[in-house]
Amino acid sequence: MRGSVACGVKLRAVSTSLTASSGALATGPEPIAEAGPQSLCAREPYVPAERLVAEMVPPPRFDGVRFDTYNPDPNQPSQAQAVTTLSTFAAGLGGAHASGTAKRRWFSKKPAAPAGPRGVYLDGGYGVGKTHLLASLWHATPAAPEYKAFGTFVELTNLVGALGFQQTVQTLGGHRLLCIDEFELDDPGDTVLVSSLLRKLVESGVALAATSNTLPGKLGEGRFAAVDFLREIQGLSAHFRPLRIDGEDYRHRGLPEAPAPYSDEQVAKAAYATPGATLDDFPGLLAHLARVHPSRYSALTEDISAVCLTDVQAVPDQSTALRLVVLADRLYDREIPVLASGVPFDRLFSEEMLNGGYRKKYFRAISRLTALARDAKGLVSQ
Ligand SMILES: Nc1ncnc2c1ncn2[C@@H]1O[C@H](COP(=O)(O)OP(=O)(O)OP(=O)(O)O)[C@@H](O)[C@H]1O
Ligand SMILES: [Mg+2]
Repeated sequence: MRGSVACGVKLRAVSTSLTASSGALATGPEPIAEAGPQSLCAREPYVPAERLVAEMVPPPRFDGVRFDTYNPDPNQPSQAQAVTTLSTFAAGLGGAHASGTAKRRWFSKKPAAPAGPRGVYLDGGYGVGKTHLLASLWHATPAAPEYKAFGTFVELTNLVGALGFQQTVQTLGGHRLLCIDEFELDDPGDTVLVSSLLRKLVESGVALAATSNTLPGKLGEGRFAAVDFLREIQGLSAHFRPLRIDGEDYRHRGLPEAPAPYSDEQVAKAAYATPGATLDDFPGLLAHLARVHPSRYSALTEDISAVCLTDVQAVPDQSTALRLVVLADRLYDREIPVLASGVPFDRLFSEEMLNGGYRKKYFRAISRLTALARDAKGLVSQ
């Protein structure tokens, strides 16, 4: 079984004798081994194309969020303003497409002429609630779920990869709304690909909403990315109204510090005591992540109740660090607590990384992992 040896936690006789095979996650979760926790390294998920389409909905963490569960900070007027603007935007999206008229329009090749911006772009630092508001917009849009889509930029490019460009245009062209979270501006090829897709979708009358990361090299200068986004989306800027959200990282607003790392024994013990938990040693997990495409990290974390990691260390290089960022995102989406021994999460990335082009991604990953570490506190017996 590939990966399990490299990943096996070197603590007493911890067994990671799982029987995961490729495709296991396509047919359902693997059984929890009676002998102990599962290992992320033993999972090699396969994701069929139709599942990619069905999964274009807000992730579990944002299932229940709505505009009225967003508490605007009274000291940041842009937050209440964003709720008002987005609520109005959602209300304007009811009607025609839900009955399938957009599909007919696409097939008859007569593009609708959208009046004014049919898109919003949410700009702000990490943790201010951009995804919360984007998901709330998706929920509030008066159309059936099959007429609205929500995904990260990476999920969207995966969809194009799996379906092909034309088929993706046909699949999404009848939608009322497409929400793209974390639009990646740092890969010119993918930016052009998605911009071309969005142009087709705008012609079909699909409304758009997006958040983005920022360009490498630009990140140190300021936290806001609207200018970069509007320039990079290749002539689509007129379709987006930028909406700026000021504020602090809500994940840590008034909350206690994340717990210090635990001992290897505490982590292993908690993994054994927690049904559905995984237990991996961190360097082995990083090696496994290099062998699984990041588009499958979501499936990798499916049906897991907690991730237990021993020997967390600073990541050795940028590629490894970026893979870890994606894993942190998927764990965060699924609200999976992370219990760890080794170095604290704020020492995962080197000074050089934290000052470099991807610094915003790294700070976001630290913010998210810290929140998940706080969620894991209850798993350790005192
Ligand atoms: N004003 C708010 N009221 C209630 N919950 C909030 C608020 N702002 C953020 N949250 C919650 O805090 C968490 C972080 O917010 P969210 O993930 O939406 O931020 P973000 O701006 O998308 O961050 P990131 O930059 O990491 O993508 C979420 O669980 C969200 O529901
Ligand atoms: Mg977000």
